[in-house]
Amino acid sequence: MLAYFNGAYLPLQEISISPEDRGFLFADGVYDVIRVYNGHPYRLDDHLARLSYCASQLRLAPSDFSFLADVVRRLLAENGLSGAASIYLHITRGRAPRQHAFPQPPPPLTIYASARSLDETPLRRKQERGIVAITLADNRWGRCDIKTTALVANVLANQQAADHGADEAIFIRDGALLEGSHTNIMAVADGEVRTAPLDNSILPGITRQAVMELCRELAIPVRETPVFQHEIAKLSELMALSTTLEVTPVTSLDGKPVADGRPGAVCRRLGDALRQDIERLCR
Ligand code: PDD
Repeated sequence: MLAYFNGAYLPLQEISISPEDRGFLFADGVYDVIRVYNGHPYRLDDHLARLSYCASQLRLAPSDFSFLADVVRRLLAENGLSGAASIYLHITRGRAPRQHAFPQPPPPLTIYASARSLDETPLRRKQERGIVAITLADNRWGRCDIKTTALVANVLANQQAADHGADEAIFIRDGALLEGSHTNIMAVADGEVRTAPLDNSILPGITRQAVMELCRELAIPVRETPVFQHEIAKLSELMALSTTLEVTPVTSLDGKPVADGRPGAVCRRLGDALRQDIERLCR
């Protein structure tokens, strides 16, 4: 596999990163994950705009990463990826002797990108059957709107889910279901789709945004409003959304079925609509 590293295209095994890289020392960096369908990245510009926003929030300079669009296309071509694939982008503040404050003068950023092919079968199975989730208290920092590589709280949460035989862990703060360890969350209650509002406590997911647009197109009522823990029993559907999971029903939460424990109609409709949007944009 050929990957991109600081301006060069190299076999993955030839890439080495300094132990003084601030990504290694401090998780001082940002990342993004993009899905590729039929060889075409889905909503690439949206992902790169978010990456640039996140980099600006970390005061990385430069923080405009729109040039990575060409890198992504070249990686797909170099690796002969013409079907289902995923792209990983990772940028850190670069290499410097360890000190907390930004190094002066600023070293060049470390920029890494890779692409690999993807087997879609496990996802389709999850979408057919639904996934299992647990809830847990949100112990992450106060800027969850930034997609930083500092993911240890998400790692521990997802492992806690795995320890309980579950696929996802949903963070709860002040009684509200915010998002999963690697997904946004939507619920259906009283005939409307609800999802946590955008603020510092969740990632502005590209899939969440796409699905909200699709709800409006399909005239499905959608509202950015908290979904509270005490409302779980009355939810008719719950779903996880992300680049890698698309729209996937959550059919069991904390050991209890969500509604009748089967994937719901709204989730299926939104999943189909997203697939159509993908087909339209990634022909
Ligand atoms: N995760 N919330 C969190 C905490 C996430 O890590 C992600 C994505 C999302 C969904 O965002 P999007 O729709 O833009 O993928 C929400 C990626 C896929 C990951 O870390 O692998």
